[in-house]
Amino acid sequence: MTVVLKTIDEVRQFRQSQQNKKVGFVPTMGNLHAGHLSLMKMAKANSDVVIASIYVNPTQFAPSEDLDSYPRTFDEDLEKLTALGVDAVFYPDEKVIYPYGKDNTLSIELPKQLTQILCGLGRPSHFQGVATVVAKLFQIVQPHVAVFGKKDFQQLTVIRRLVTELFMDIEIIGGEIIRETSGLAMSSRNQYLTDNEQKQAENLHKVLKWAREQLLAGQSETMILEKAKQHLLDLGVDVEYLDLRDKETLQESPELSNAILLVAARVGKTRLIDNVLVG
Ligand code: PAJ
Repeated sequence: MTVVLKTIDEVRQFRQSQQNKKVGFVPTMGNLHAGHLSLMKMAKANSDVVIASIYVNPTQFAPSEDLDSYPRTFDEDLEKLTALGVDAVFYPDEKVIYPYGKDNTLSIELPKQLTQILCGLGRPSHFQGVATVVAKLFQIVQPHVAVFGKKDFQQLTVIRRLVTELFMDIEIIGGEIIRETSGLAMSSRNQYLTDNEQKQAENLHKVLKWAREQLLAGQSETMILEKAKQHLLDLGVDVEYLDLRDKETLQESPELSNAILLVAARVGKTRLIDNVLVG
């Protein structure tokens, strides 16, 4: 049975009982699917003890976003963690993470180069909220290794920067994107999609794969990105961005061998993201 830890003291006691063991950590917002579970397995393969966290972090949601309706399924999540042999789950209340209140919290400011691009344009305070909560979670859990999914590629880049620039002694591992058989990247938000919207959403990955092939065949970047965007728009998918970036720095005009294609789009009311490596 996965041990449920609610307070910082409980986490510290658990950590003390596991001295000299390598601790792997997987932060999540719960409503666990196969994508999350693949990260747990990766953490298990890279450490002796695995701690997950489940916390729907309010500071990474804008007022207009789905904080209140975000799916909360703790009992089912705990069963999944237990079945996988995850040792403990940190499941804090808001006052544990934000003792002075979420609107009166210390906050991590990130470089604009990382946040005023891609998802940061449509969600200007999102990554600040993510970096802040992840820094707090790292301080509480004190892991040796932490695993994040490549589905949220910009988030993974932000976390790597956080750890490097705050000199945290934590190894960050990126887990591959887990997809439905249709190619749709798994996401807790997929359940908001109607059957018809699901079909539309499946085009995100298809178009990314098509664009990658075209780029590798030597087609012009501008033309391919434009065609790919137009194709999605024609299918009724509201593209927020579809960009080619350097996979380390997320800056524009990358070498193809080091490039990543990233997309964010709204299908109906649901915002979805996906990416594929080009090189
Ligand atoms: P959440 O959306 O619950 O995702 C938790 C982790 O699962 C993230 O690292 C995310 O990239 C990964 N993930 C989600 N879908 C995936 C998929 N289809 N394949 C592989 N990995 C996938 O990301 C967050 O929570 C939060 O921002 C958090 C980091 C917990 C901070 O609040």
